[in-house]
Amino acid sequence: MRKNIVAGNWKMNKTLQEGVDLAKELQTALNGKKVNCDVIVCTPFIHLTAVNALLDPTIVKLGAQNCADKGSGAYTGEVSAAMVASTGAQYVILGHSERRAYYGETNAILKEKLKQALENKLTPIFCIGEVLAEREAGKQNSVVKTQIEDSLFELSAEDFGKIILAYEPVWAIGTGKTATSEQAQEMHAYIRQTIAGKYGASVANETSILYGGSANAGNAGELFANPDVDGGLIGGASLKVDTFLPIVEAF
Ligand code: PGA
Repeated sequence: MRKNIVAGNWKMNKTLQEGVDLAKELQTALNGKKVNCDVIVCTPFIHLTAVNALLDPTIVKLGAQNCADKGSGAYTGEVSAAMVASTGAQYVILGHSERRAYYGETNAILKEKLKQALENKLTPIFCIGEVLAEREAGKQNSVVKTQIEDSLFELSAEDFGKIILAYEPVWAIGTGKTATSEQAQEMHAYIRQTIAGKYGASVANETSILYGGSANAGNAGELFANPDVDGGLIGGASLKVDTFLPIVEAF
């Protein structure tokens, strides 16, 4: 179901103790406050169990940032979707551009990760987005369309309906250079239209599409006001309650 969502992506930040403190502080700040979006934090794997124990999921929900493309077995260092789910986490970020760029995750690998996540009842937050050279060449729409088609379009309409999308232009991630509100709306509308072409308008209208890339307290309100922007995936600004809370409150 389409929802407003603000999700924090802690990336590879915070020791276990620091992460527990941040989660506690966030939960306390939001406790009793009426907000108009779901709030999710996506922590490193090692934080999941401890953070799950202290969060009230009606206030802050929990996700991981990755899972393996295999179910179980001799895959040293990997963490399966079943393991993530067993911590109590409900979400998993998949296809983040940092995973694609630094860890060789292809659309084909991501298709397997999606399958694992869905089989284990995790809600994927699936990231797509073009790099700067692609935007400068005017190829952003075709790049994003290919990412969607190659990883997602073999899903049944029912399974597609379980996914959250995050459009993250790679040139905007961690750079301080946010997409303009117009660029975000234009791409989100294009993504929705692409989904409608495959699954029909009602599935497309029910899909939450988040924006990510240097979103902050100063630009979140304008970004979220767009009809096709259903929230944000927040990196740097999710690492402190002071910078994350105003984004949640931007809805
Ligand atoms: P950023 O990261 O907010 O630090 O740009 C967003 C993301 O990569 O999810």
